[in-house]
Amino acid sequence: MAKPRVLVTRRMAEEALALIREATDTYLWPEDTAPPYETLVAEASRSDGLLCMLEDRVDEGLIQAAAPRLRVISQMAVGVDNVDVEAATRRGIPVGHTPGVLAPTVADLAFALILASARRVAEGDRYVRQGRWKGWHPTFFLGYDVHGATLGILGLGGTGTEVAKRARGFSMRIIYHSRTRKPHLEAELGLEWRPDMDSVLREADIVTLHVPLSAETRHLIGQRELGLMKPSAILVNTTRGPVVDPGALYQALKGGVISGAALDVTEPEPLPPDDPLLTLENLVVTPHIGSASVATRTGMAVTAARNLLAGLRGEPLLHCVNADALKR
Ligand code: DGY
Repeated sequence: MAKPRVLVTRRMAEEALALIREATDTYLWPEDTAPPYETLVAEASRSDGLLCMLEDRVDEGLIQAAAPRLRVISQMAVGVDNVDVEAATRRGIPVGHTPGVLAPTVADLAFALILASARRVAEGDRYVRQGRWKGWHPTFFLGYDVHGATLGILGLGGTGTEVAKRARGFSMRIIYHSRTRKPHLEAELGLEWRPDMDSVLREADIVTLHVPLSAETRHLIGQRELGLMKPSAILVNTTRGPVVDPGALYQALKGGVISGAALDVTEPEPLPPDDPLLTLENLVVTPHIGSASVATRTGMAVTAARNLLAGLRGEPLLHCVNADALKR
């Protein structure tokens, strides 16, 4: 019997590719950049399974074109905001994702960004390399303490919880707002619940964002919200770029409305070199590397491969965002 054909849109851990190759006729997109949309549609339409990444636009048009044959979409990420999940569900196509593997790794980076921004690490590095370091004095390069500060977490899912665990080691006071209140985590990690986002923004010295991107969270942090934060506060974003309005953030950082920001995700991505945000010394930016450790990217690839293969066999996926699809 002919093996099912699958499209894998990027090179990834060999361990995962080996699993896929053994069970399928695999077409691996040869570049490290996303296939052009037309190519993605054409290749997906000739496939029984699609293993995709967060930069691939898996929209209604693609799903409609590919649906007669396509039986599973497996995204190698937790967030699936690039996939039209409703369109897939309507056509009975399960959409897999990779939770459970990457939260601690993303939390490590969130903490790196908190420290980098509060203690001006990236700015200091640039300063030394530019030959501007002339000596020590009492008011030189002052930043803010992370230990003892109040951390505000917006969105207490897997990554938010991991960030809270790290914050305890820095003796931080931790406040949070999340769609669902989590009393067991409040008790276990000493967290304080706030009934609305604004209270967190007003009270926190450092605000870290962990909400998924959706129509409700697009530009969740804009001019009004930045205006509620303390002038000494720092904003950290490791979730999805469009959760923050970049124009409002630029104005807030330039005008001293807040003291700093650190972004692993931006709008747009990649951030063009002439983006106004990159002119600001009080911004730290990294190129969407939250989950980029060898172990985690391998774990994500293997989970995505297993989801893909389960979908091809008509079995429930390990992690599925639309379990209802299989009932159709
Ligand atoms: C995710 O899984 O959504 C991450 O952003 C990937 O790095």
